[in-house]
Amino acid sequence: MAFDIDMIKKVYAQISERVDKAREITGKPLTLSEKILYSHLWEGNPTKAFQRGKDYVDFAPDRIACQDATAQMALLQFMQAGKKTVAVPTTVHCDHLIQAKQGAALDLKRANETSNEVFDFLESVSNKYGIGFWRPGAGIIHQVVLENYAFPGGMMIGTDSHTVNAGGLGMVAIGVGGADAVDVMAGMAWELKFPKLIGVKLTGELNGWTASKDVILKVAGILTVKGGTGAIVEYFGPGAKNLSCTGKGTICNMGAEIGATTSTFGYDDAMERFLRATDRSDIADEANKIRAYLTGDDEVYANPEQYFDQVIEIDLSTLRPHLNGPFTPDLATPVGELGEKAKKNDWPIKVDWGLIGSCTNSSYEDLSRAASIAQQAVDKNLKPKSDFGINPGSEQIRFTAERDGLLDVFEKLGATIFTNACGPCIGQWDRSDRKGDEKNTIVHSFNRNFSKRADGNPNTHAFVGSPEMVAAIAISGRLDFDPMNDTLLNEDGQEVKLDIPVGLELPPKGFEVDDNGYLAPKEDGSSVEVKVAKDSERLQLLEPFVPIKDSELQGVKLLIKAFGKCTTDHISMAGPWLRYRGHLDNIANNTLIGAVNAFNKKTNFVKNQLTGEYGGVPNVQREYKAKGIKTIVVGDHNYGEGSSREHAAMQPRFLGVAAVLVKSFARIHETNLKKQGMLGLTFANEADYDLIQEDDTFNFVDIADFSENKPLTLEIVHKDGNKDTIKVNHTYNDAQIKWYREGSALNLIKKQDA
Ligand code: F3S
Repeated sequence: MAFDIDMIKKVYAQISERVDKAREITGKPLTLSEKILYSHLWEGNPTKAFQRGKDYVDFAPDRIACQDATAQMALLQFMQAGKKTVAVPTTVHCDHLIQAKQGAALDLKRANETSNEVFDFLESVSNKYGIGFWRPGAGIIHQVVLENYAFPGGMMIGTDSHTVNAGGLGMVAIGVGGADAVDVMAGMAWELKFPKLIGVKLTGELNGWTASKDVILKVAGILTVKGGTGAIVEYFGPGAKNLSCTGKGTICNMGAEIGATTSTFGYDDAMERFLRATDRSDIADEANKIRAYLTGDDEVYANPEQYFDQVIEIDLSTLRPHLNGPFTPDLATPVGELGEKAKKNDWPIKVDWGLIGSCTNSSYEDLSRAASIAQQAVDKNLKPKSDFGINPGSEQIRFTAERDGLLDVFEKLGATIFTNACGPCIGQWDRSDRKGDEKNTIVHSFNRNFSKRADGNPNTHAFVGSPEMVAAIAISGRLDFDPMNDTLLNEDGQEVKLDIPVGLELPPKGFEVDDNGYLAPKEDGSSVEVKVAKDSERLQLLEPFVPIKDSELQGVKLLIKAFGKCTTDHISMAGPWLRYRGHLDNIANNTLIGAVNAFNKKTNFVKNQLTGEYGGVPNVQREYKAKGIKTIVVGDHNYGEGSSREHAAMQPRFLGVAAVLVKSFARIHETNLKKQGMLGLTFANEADYDLIQEDDTFNFVDIADFSENKPLTLEIVHKDGNKDTIKVNHTYNDAQIKWYREGSALNLIKKQDA
C-alpha cells in the first residue's frame, strides 16, 4: 500500500553520492536542508553551487500529496497531459470537505451525500492514473502522510500549505499550487528558488506544561508571520533530539505560519521509533545505514552562525507554555500573562470551546497528553465550563485512541468526537451554540486563527495552544487560567489544582486499525471511467486550450485596467466560490470581480466597448468571447501576488483573455500564465501604464517574431484614432514560447508523448 522500499533505497543511494559531490563543489560542510536539496536536483549530480535566495533551481521530488479541495483542478489538468499514470508516487486525501456538526458518524454520512460527486470523481481519477486514494474519514492529509509516506531525507510537494508537516520525519516537504503538482505528476521538473536557511538551535528539555507546540509558538513570536519567507527553517541541537517525531511534525507544520518554505529536523532516534511503530522498520534500517547523510554536518551545527543566514536559540528547559492570538498566530503570550492582555484589549475572557485536533496536533501523543488532563477533570470532579471538540488525525490514531480508552475520557466530559478530518480548522464547522456575529473566545490546537477561519464569525477570538493547554483552558472556561499556578473549584466546592500533563509518545500496545480508509489504484487503470456527471455544477472535464493565433492579436480590446493591488484573490475570489474550483466555467464567473477599474475606481464594473455599456467583468468578457474578440488585462505592480492558485490564470484564459500587461508580476502567477498558453508581459517603460485609455484597442505588431530575449512591440489605438507604440518585455524562454504556441504546457507534453 504505502511506500516502495526500492524507491527509498534508490533515494538513499542518490543522497550518499550527491551529498559528497555537493560538499566538494560548495567547498563547505552542509546543512541537512542543503543535503536534501542537492540530492534531488532534476539534472542529477550537482555541478555547481547555488546562491541561496537568488538561483532558480529544478528539482525532482519523490512524492506528491493532494487534498480534496485542491486536487480537483490539479487532477482535471493532469488528465490533459495524456499520461497513463502519474510519473511520481501520488496520493489524494479527502479531508477538507467534511463539515463538523453532530459527531463523526452523522457528519461523515452527510459529507458523503453532499460531496459525493467530488469524492467519486477523485476516487475514479485516482484509480485510473495510479494514485493512492484515502477515503473521507481516513484522516487529515498531513497526519496520514507522516504515518505512511514521509521518510528521512526525502523531498515531497503537496497541494496544501501544511505539507511542511512531513519535516517532522526529516523531509523537505513543500506546499505548492496545483499547477506545480501537475507538472511533476506529468513528469516535468519542479522549480524553486534555492531557499535561504534559518537555523534554530534547541537546547535543554521540555518539562511541565510546555509542549512541542510552544516551540513554534515562541518561534512565531520571534519571526512573525513573514519572518520565514523564502527560507527553510532547520532545527538542530540536543533539544531537538529530545522531541518526539510527531512533536517535530507540529513544529514544522506551523512553519507555514511564519511564511517559511518549509522546516525540517535531522534523522534521530525519535524518528526511528516512529518509523518502527508505524510498520516501517525497513525504512529505519535503510536510514540507519546512512545516518550521517540524513542530518546536518557536525561542523555546521557547531558553528551555525557561519552556515545559516539567521540563527535562533531556544532553551526548552526554560520555555513557557504560550497561547497565541487572537486573529494572528504570531501574537505570542505566555500563559499566565494573558488575563491582563485580554482585559486591556477587551477580548472575552470566557472560553466557549476547546478544540483539539487538525493536522498540527492530532497525534497519539497529543491525544494522550490532553486526555491526561481530561482524566483529572473526571477524577477531581471538575465540570468543564467550555464545550470540547476533538478531530483525530487519522483513523489509525482514532482506532488506537479508542482502544486505549483515550476518547472515552473526553466523552465523559461531553466532548464531541468529530470525523478524522479538518473540520473547524478550515471553517467546516456548523457551530450549534452561536448564530450571528457575537464576540466570543475559543481555544484550539490548530495552526491558523485568522478572522473567520474556524466558524465564519469575524468576532470569534481564536487562541492557539498545545492540546493539553487547550484541555486545561476548556475545563476552566477562562482565558486567564494558568494551570501552573491557579486552582479550580470542583463540583464539591473544593479547590483543586491540575497536575502537569503526562503522555505517551507512542501507543504501548502499538497502533491498530480495522479499515484505514485507503484504496489502492488498479495496476492497469486504462479501462477505468472517470466519473463526472454531465450536469454537475461542481466538476467539469477540461478541454485543451486552443493556441492563440497571431491574427487574433490584432484588434484586441481592453477588458480592464486594474488599479493598485490585484492579487490572486482579486482575480479569482475564494469564499463561496471554492465550491466551484473543479468547474472552470462556473468559477470563471468570479474572474477579476475583485479588481478595481482604474477609470471609475469601482470593482466588477467595466465598459463593454461593443455596446458602450458597463457591466460585470465576467459578463463583458463573455460577450467579447462570443464575438471571437480577444482581450487584454492591464495591471499595476506585483500583479497576481498572494496564492499560487492556478485558477487565476486558467479563468481569464478560458474566457478568452489573450494577454496580461502589467508593471510587474508576482513570479508564480507569471509562470502560471505561461503554462496556460497566455502572454504575460510587462511595460518596458512603466509610465506607459498611463497611456492606456478605456476604449483602447491593441495590435501586437511583431507577435510573429515572438522569441527569447526580444521585447514585443504593441500598438495602442485610442478612441480618437491617435496611436501610441510601446515596447513590452517578457521573460519567456524558448521552451515556454513552445507552451504558448501549443496553447498550454500540458498540450505540449501531450504532443511530445504522442
Ligand atoms: Fe486541514 Fe487545517 Fe491542516 S485545513 S490540512 S487541518 S491546516
